Amino acid sequence: MIYTAALRSLALLFALLPLSLADEVSNSPNVSQRRCRCLLSQPCWPSESSWQTLNQAIGGRLIATKPAAYNCHDPHYDDAACQEVQKGYFDVLWRETQPGAMLRANWEVVGDQGCRGFNKTAPCFQGAVPLYSVNATSAEDVQNAVRFASKSNIRLVVKNTGHDFIGRSTGASSLSVWVHYMKGIAFDKDFVPKGATNGTKGTGVIILGAGVQWVDAYKAADERSVIVIGGFEQTVGTSGGYCQGGGHSLLSPMHGLCVDNVLQYKVVTADGKLKVANAYQNKDLFWALRGGGGGTFGVVVEAIYKTHSALDNINFANFIIHYNTTEARRSILNRFFSHQIKWSKTGWSGYGIVQNNAIIFQYYLPNSDINAANASIAVFFDHAKTFEDVKIEGQIKSYPSFYTCFMDSTTTENRGAGMNALIGSRLIPSRNFETPNGVSQLTDTLLETQERLRFVNPQGIFVTNLIAGGAVANGTSVETSVVPAWRKALMHIWVTAGWGDDTTLAEQDTIARSITSTMGLLRKLSPGSGAYVNEADPNEPNWQTSFFGSNYPRLKAIKDKVDPEGLFTCRNCVGSEDWTKDFNCPRR
Ligand SMILES: Cc1cc2nc3c(=O)[nH]c(=O)nc-3n(C[C@H](O)[C@H](O)[C@H](O)COP(=O)(O)OP(=O)(O)OC[C@H]3O[C@@H](n4cnc5c(N)ncnc54)[C@H](O)[C@@H]3O)c2cc1C
Ligand SMILES: *[C@@H]1O[C@H](CO)[C@@H](O)[C@H](O)[C@H]1NC(C)=O
Ligand SMILES: *[C@@H]1O[C@H](CO)[C@@H](O)[C@H](O)[C@H]1NC(C)=O
Ligand SMILES: *[C@@H]1O[C@H](CO)[C@@H](O)[C@H](O)[C@H]1NC(C)=O
Ligand SMILES: *[C@@H]1O[C@H](CO)[C@@H](O)[C@H](O)[C@H]1NC(C)=O
Ligand SMILES: *[C@@H]1O[C@H](CO)[C@@H](O)[C@H](O)[C@H]1NC(C)=O
Ligand SMILES: *[C@@H]1O[C@H](CO)[C@@H](O)[C@H](O)[C@H]1NC(C)=O
Ligand SMILES: *[C@@H]1O[C@H](CO)[C@@H](O)[C@H](O)[C@H]1NC(C)=O
Repeated sequence: MIYTAALRSLALLFALLPLSLADEVSNSPNVSQRRCRCLLSQPCWPSESSWQTLNQAIGGRLIATKPAAYNCHDPHYDDAACQEVQKGYFDVLWRETQPGAMLRANWEVVGDQGCRGFNKTAPCFQGAVPLYSVNATSAEDVQNAVRFASKSNIRLVVKNTGHDFIGRSTGASSLSVWVHYMKGIAFDKDFVPKGATNGTKGTGVIILGAGVQWVDAYKAADERSVIVIGGFEQTVGTSGGYCQGGGHSLLSPMHGLCVDNVLQYKVVTADGKLKVANAYQNKDLFWALRGGGGGTFGVVVEAIYKTHSALDNINFANFIIHYNTTEARRSILNRFFSHQIKWSKTGWSGYGIVQNNAIIFQYYLPNSDINAANASIAVFFDHAKTFEDVKIEGQIKSYPSFYTCFMDSTTTENRGAGMNALIGSRLIPSRNFETPNGVSQLTDTLLETQERLRFVNPQGIFVTNLIAGGAVANGTSVETSVVPAWRKALMHIWVTAGWGDDTTLAEQDTIARSITSTMGLLRKLSPGSGAYVNEADPNEPNWQTSFFGSNYPRLKAIKDKVDPEGLFTCRNCVGSEDWTKDFNCPRR
């Protein structure tokens, strides 16, 4: 039902398109040539010998992909292999090396058909796990995979880390291009984009293979005394969905979103060609890749991001404020929100984990004296201390570099690997924080949201990210295609709810509906804002507008031009409204 409404609003948007964009649409190749894709069960599915030919072309790098827990289930049960599975099942570092595994296991199933856990006699279905994966290590491997899927008319998906929160890196009856092992890292102090006009000044950059993860990029950057703008998480991919969907960073208030720092992409498009996209060539494609979402416009094989001068230092205020009474809870949360604009102006960024009885406060201030940093948050802690039932633990600590601070702040444990979960989120505009009344409304809305979701989120956990504002507010839709709401936002707030493997489909449906409807409270509080596509609800109403805003019509026009047959489709990805729910047939 969401789709019908979306299609209608889309038709309206196209009617209003400015001329230049309308041109782009009418020039686009014939989208009516789209066909239903071939499924494993059909005679048109590629023959064994076709797969063999592909495997030879890519140097034996084709994998017949199985679900992660395959070897723990009859008739494939294998004691030694199953022990390995059990060791790794809930570990992000193991999951990312499994071509068939997603970080969140709920995306590996179709309905209730999956391959879960370690009960030997429970059935093991392929579910949404791809049938084959190309373990790509070169652009040619990627090109071979793309051409094969296009020629064979089968579903193609792109996987990097498999961290995607709305399951976009997997798909039933598909071939997966798996870029995890494209690990090249290089630097250039004087990079000039290909095709740039003579005299274009060089810029310091990091050059990243598609599979590089942030922990490795940060380490390499630190060794050269520079910083790069990436996720505050060791295992997130640098060049896949994270950055193509926007990419927020602890350093975003200082240097913008990840997309604001991209200078060039090398990308394999649906026609199998390897293209260089930057501000001088393939400009539309470049713009679309800077915020239009992963898995949509092609497979990025190399990304080039600006580097910046190393920090002088960075102070980390790491506290937990415990409280018990409803007065303290409301008052402290209210003060917490009321300080955000001031903290943002001072240069702080960071994360709050709001719970029923505590706020975990993890805020960071680059390039500052520790005493000044301490003084600028003292007023908040002094207020909290006025409540008798409040206990504060923690400290403020100074680090000599971003990397040392990052390594001390992050862990690869308990990343939710192997769990089932959904997210709901909202970008909260600065204006909501500007008046005492606005702050009160936000506080009350969050408390109400906690209340309504208590049945799936008993601890009342909400993550509040102060990672917008500052340089993020300076970016524009001329250069990037992220939802413009990012530019007016101060905080990105999200909630997550999980369930066990034995939860019925009906109960899962109740959880999903509750998240979507409850987040309506925050949507209502921030009309015209949006949500961050990478940390979002798959059932977000009017997702095109929420995730891409006024950039959607241009993104859709570019999508139809670079991928007329719809080779790249994924959930809530640009153009996916043209396809049936399983992405296998065009909607007519
Ligand atoms: C523990 C954790 C912490 C996180 N922290 C942050 C954070 O600090 N900041 C933030 O902004 N986000 C964060 N995220 C969210 C993150 O941005 C998303 O999970 C994102 O989808 C990860 O991208 P990926 O490429 O690593 O994952 P994948 O699941 O492999 O891919 C995500 C999407 O991109 C596509 N894709 C992957 N590789 C390519 C490629 N080479 N070319 C084209 N498309 C590709 C996939 O098809 C899929 O659609 C976090 C996520 C997790 C799980
Ligand atoms: C588009 O393709 C269809 C099917 O091949 C064909 O019938 C139609 O005439 C084409 N339209 C244009 C404008 O080329
Ligand atoms: C294991 O799976 C079988 C078959 O689905 C089921 O009958 C049995 O109850 C399960 N055992 C446990 C311990 O969950
Ligand atoms: C994928 O390729 C990498 C690099 O060659 C290799 O280390 C890894 O074992 C391969 N993974 C699988 C599952 O084949
Ligand atoms: C740019 O420089 C190259 C090599 O120095 C030269 O051949 C070319 O003519 C120049 N182009 C323009 C537009 O000035
Ligand atoms: C920060 O300020 C508090 C008082 O508000 C003080 O107790 C604490 O020692 C200070 N910490 C540092 C690291 O200066
Ligand atoms: C809150 O209440 C619990 C249970 O009575 C108690 O153990 C805890 O110390 C209290 N916390 C604070 C901060 O007063
Ligand atoms: C934002 O842009 C303005 C105007 O160009 C500039 O003065 C300011 O420093 C920028 N802010 C950040 C945080 O980059």
